[in-house]
Amino acid sequence: MRVTYSPEQLAAAAPYEIGEALERGRIICFPTCPIELPSAADLALLREQLPRELASKNASYHPESGRVHGLKGDPALRELGVRVLRTHSERVEAFLHATIGYLTRGWRVGTSSFRPVQEKGRNLKPHASNELVHVDAGAYGATNGDRILRFFVNVNPAEDRVWATQGAFASLYQRYAAAAGVEGAHRLDKGPLDQLRTALLSGLAAAGVKAATVVDSSPYDRLMRRFHNYMKDTPAFQSARDTYEEMRFPPFSAWMVLTDTTSHASLSGQHALVNTFLLRLAACRLPAVAPYHILRAGRVAA
Ligand SMILES: [Fe+2]
Repeated sequence: MRVTYSPEQLAAAAPYEIGEALERGRIICFPTCPIELPSAADLALLREQLPRELASKNASYHPESGRVHGLKGDPALRELGVRVLRTHSERVEAFLHATIGYLTRGWRVGTSSFRPVQEKGRNLKPHASNELVHVDAGAYGATNGDRILRFFVNVNPAEDRVWATQGAFASLYQRYAAAAGVEGAHRLDKGPLDQLRTALLSGLAAAGVKAATVVDSSPYDRLMRRFHNYMKDTPAFQSARDTYEEMRFPPFSAWMVLTDTTSHASLSGQHALVNTFLLRLAACRLPAVAPYHILRAGRVAA
């Protein structure tokens, strides 16, 4: 599931090599982080001071508003969060343009987040738990088949971040689609009710109700949600070991993955930078392995 790139291998990668590996569901690992990181002093401030001001599980910089969400009042910490997370977002964007340029056409640049929470033992409800293997269903509301790319950096100076995977969507679909209730071909274009909902929510968003589009939905997103919930709700799936793999990401290493395609769980680790991007399905070079086309066809293309 993993493909590792040293700086030399990254420099020598063919034009579509890394993007196609992502599309196929590989986890692209960089033992040496390929972008400049925030200074050691800024990272220490984030790790030490941000948890006491945290109003939610992450502090997230939103590029559309230029603001950091998830923090309480301290203006100095807010300013630090904006400066560090915005700069990091710009560096990740530049790296992705250079490395997987074709996948960035028409993309949406999402949040740049700092996750200060220890992933192990959070005791969240199953559907919210990162410790259970799953594929992501939705990001900022409905994706309508667009792909969810996440770029991670472990910024804990001492502790590995530990993940598990059960493989990529095509193989998961072949083994579990029937049990999850998502088998067979599906019409994924939006019907009149979905179109009405989307139009109403777009209108609310345009009128300034920022959260409106987060509750949008589509036939595709509902199927993905069903598959996501099946994975998290099914002990037999969680305990299956035929394609299970654990991996460790050392301090200051980076990795990226299409989280709608590659199953993943965060078993342990604390302090990570996580950047999210929505990639257009139409920009993909291997659409047949995208969850959208597998669900629509009701089978994995040979
Ligand atoms: Fe996830």
